[in-house]
Amino acid sequence: MSDDRLIVALDVADALTGLKLTERLGDAVSFYKIGLGMLTGGGLALANELKQEHGKRIFLDMKLFDISATIEAAVRGLAQFDLDFLTVHGDPHVVAAAKEGVAGKDLQILAVTILTSLDRDDLDDGLMKQGDVQDLVLERASKALLAGADGVIASPQESALIRALPEAAGKLIVTPGVRPLGAELGDQKRVMTPADAIANGSDHIVVGRPVWQAADPRDAAQSILASLP
Ligand code: C5P
Repeated sequence: MSDDRLIVALDVADALTGLKLTERLGDAVSFYKIGLGMLTGGGLALANELKQEHGKRIFLDMKLFDISATIEAAVRGLAQFDLDFLTVHGDPHVVAAAKEGVAGKDLQILAVTILTSLDRDDLDDGLMKQGDVQDLVLERASKALLAGADGVIASPQESALIRALPEAAGKLIVTPGVRPLGAELGDQKRVMTPADAIANGSDHIVVGRPVWQAADPRDAAQSILASLP
């Protein structure tokens, strides 16, 4: 299997487009992220097909948040699919309920701390407590890990700080918001290269547009992998 540190985000509209893209990527990529945007376009069916027919690993990015009973039921249902990673919001009651729902399956629960699209003004609007955003991210990461999360989603700027937390020992750090040198930034603002993210302690990097918008996606994926330490 190819290097699974690279997770390619299949942010395309439907399962058929996603499947065609994975066919172009072939054995260069072994791990895919499927998100909410494809849920109504056959995302779960595609996840199943990629896993069962092509032996790929699957990260289902659902960012679940609800009361404990609903989280547990939702995760129990999703755990019937053969998935590898699932995201929930990092509130301790959500993480703990998700771990209950996973019971006995290999599915790993990753906690979202604070969405990187939110700044201090957004947090004020959402009545989130005062303080520096990065400090709050670290505090939420710590609480999520102590509640049993198998890992956290973290921007490249945060991964070194989270990696240094004692409670992060043996846990996963999965990092979106990376850009190969010279790539278009799109709407990502605080970016680092894939190599720097891995050097900072991330276990996996999630890359979307620099791969699926490339003229030759396979070549783009291979050059990202070749750049990793
Ligand atoms: O195209 P791009 O490489 O920016 O895609 C990154 C992927 O990671 C997208 O699926 C995006 O939704 C996701 N993501 C992110 N930043 C976060 C959380 C998730 O870019 N903080």
